[in-house]
Amino acid sequence: MKAAIVESYRERPRLRDDWPEPSGDGERQVLAVRAAGLNPVDLHIASGRFYAGAPPTPYVPGREGVVELPDGGLAWSDQLDQRFGSLAERTLVDPALTVPLPRGLGEAQALCFGIAGIAAWCALERRAQLRPGERVLVLGAGGLVGQIGVQAARLLGAGRVVAASRRTAALERARALGADAGVAIPAADDWESFAAALRQAEPDGFDVVLDPVWGAPARAALENLASGGRLVQVGNAAAPEQPIAAGTLRGRVADVLGYTNFALPWPVKRGAFLRMCAEHLAGNLEAPYEEVPLDRIGEAWDRQRQGPAVKLVVRPHAS
Ligand SMILES: NC(=O)c1ccc[n+]([C@@H]2O[C@H](COP(=O)([O-])OP(=O)(O)OC[C@H]3O[C@@H](n4cnc5c(N)ncnc54)[C@H](OP(=O)(O)O)[C@@H]3O)[C@@H](O)[C@H]2O)c1
Repeated sequence: MKAAIVESYRERPRLRDDWPEPSGDGERQVLAVRAAGLNPVDLHIASGRFYAGAPPTPYVPGREGVVELPDGGLAWSDQLDQRFGSLAERTLVDPALTVPLPRGLGEAQALCFGIAGIAAWCALERRAQLRPGERVLVLGAGGLVGQIGVQAARLLGAGRVVAASRRTAALERARALGADAGVAIPAADDWESFAAALRQAEPDGFDVVLDPVWGAPARAALENLASGGRLVQVGNAAAPEQPIAAGTLRGRVADVLGYTNFALPWPVKRGAFLRMCAEHLAGNLEAPYEEVPLDRIGEAWDRQRQGPAVKLVVRPHAS
């Protein structure tokens, strides 16, 4: 079958058209992939240095996809086999660990509410336990987690939502999606000027920070937590390490909460995914995507590394 193959860590995947098919077992079945969502985690895993491990090379990457079920219906899953992922014509998955797409929802749109959407939604709802009226700061607001995070904060009852991004266009878009204010993240690691800008945007401090970036922006955000505030650490798009002054945390009685989709029970993921699909169909939640053929996986992989500001949806079959 046609598949993208990670042949060695730290290299982008190569297209092969002679890759052996996976074989089903008792529970998992070989299902056709209709569309695959590309995510930063795919690149982290392919670096061979992901904190949660990586399959041995060679393997087919792609943690999430929309597959064709044996009854002909379409379903989303992020429970695909580690070695036969979604960036191929067929993958290996237990149909019980898939979620049928609601009627009227396209597969590319649905993928926006998969890994990225669930991280934004569940980080706010479950990990931060966001309460109605709270003040929320969303870092990396131009990324997929950030774009959905701004809207999820609103839908979950936040009183005020501030978006922060390096890109002016992303701040404008965040305002259109419901943010009350936007703050520019400086290009350099200048956390002090960013901290001052956040203070100006919200003098009383933030109750909750959704943080997919870490690095200097997270340091500035921590300096702007209200007493008892929570920062949910979701990703490190800006930097994997960042010194934080101990007094910053003690003085605010702050919580820094680690978050990973991997730790969510399947019914919780399923529920969050379906809630976002329903909010989208009701006109309350949107997320942009762009479709690319599997033949151009190398180019898509490079774009994902840069932060494409849209969900890149890879199509293994020409339509
Ligand atoms: N823990 C989990 O379960 C989980 C699940 C999904 C994603 N994640 C992680 O969350 C992060 C975001 O995922 P995503 O799907 O939103 O990716 P994405 O769409 O590629 O967005 C990444 C965003 O990070 C921001 N960014 C990148 N470099 C930056 C820098 N040097 N300084 C400040 N901001 C920077 C940019 O935001 P602006 O465009 O606004 O500047 C960029 O758009 C990734 O690290 C990913 O691995 C974790």
